[in-house]
Amino acid sequence: MHFTIRILFPLFLIGIIACSAQPADERATAAAPELTSGNPQEVTPPSELALLMRRMAAHADSVKVGLARGDKELPPYPTEIATLFTATPTKDMHIDPITFPTFGKDYQDKVAALYDAARRDRPAAYNALVQSCANCHSTHCPGPMMRIKKMYVAVK
Ligand code: HEC
Repeated sequence: MHFTIRILFPLFLIGIIACSAQPADERATAAAPELTSGNPQEVTPPSELALLMRRMAAHADSVKVGLARGDKELPPYPTEIATLFTATPTKDMHIDPITFPTFGKDYQDKVAALYDAARRDRPAAYNALVQSCANCHSTHCPGPMMRIKKMYVAVK
């Protein structure tokens, strides 16, 4: 019983984080290389774009924490988002030539708007930013959607 939880829980977490629309059971197999015959995905380091996404998610999370704490200052501006259109994606990842730049620009605009917003308007500006993540992820890489949906804050 405990053994099963200890094994399945990390696999479940990997399933949430990774960019994949595969059913959870296939993903669990892919995440355990010893169960497969050398899945090349497992030895490939994360792409530039995947690493940037982790930074973007960490930035948004730290904004959320700061809002909950009532911090006066936002975390440092995520200057690395300037590389959104040049970062190399995972091999064979489909990057749509129309929607990716459109949603990407919208995300960059929403980050800028957050830093321009008056302090009382930051929760709404933060939610608009999270919405811009969700918009792009509705057409690219649906795996992190569950995580993104939990990132919104309540606006009074
Ligand atoms: C313009 C489109 C776009 C926007 C905006 C966007 N994403 Fe992504 N995201 C992607 C794509 C495409 C990938 C797959 C990257 C790859 O595997 O190279 C990805 C991957 C991810 C991953 C998985 C990274 C990994 O380790 O494999 C997470 C988590 C993620 N995004 C979260 C977010 C969050 C949170 C936001 C908003 C702060 C966001 N994304 C905004 C397109 C976008």
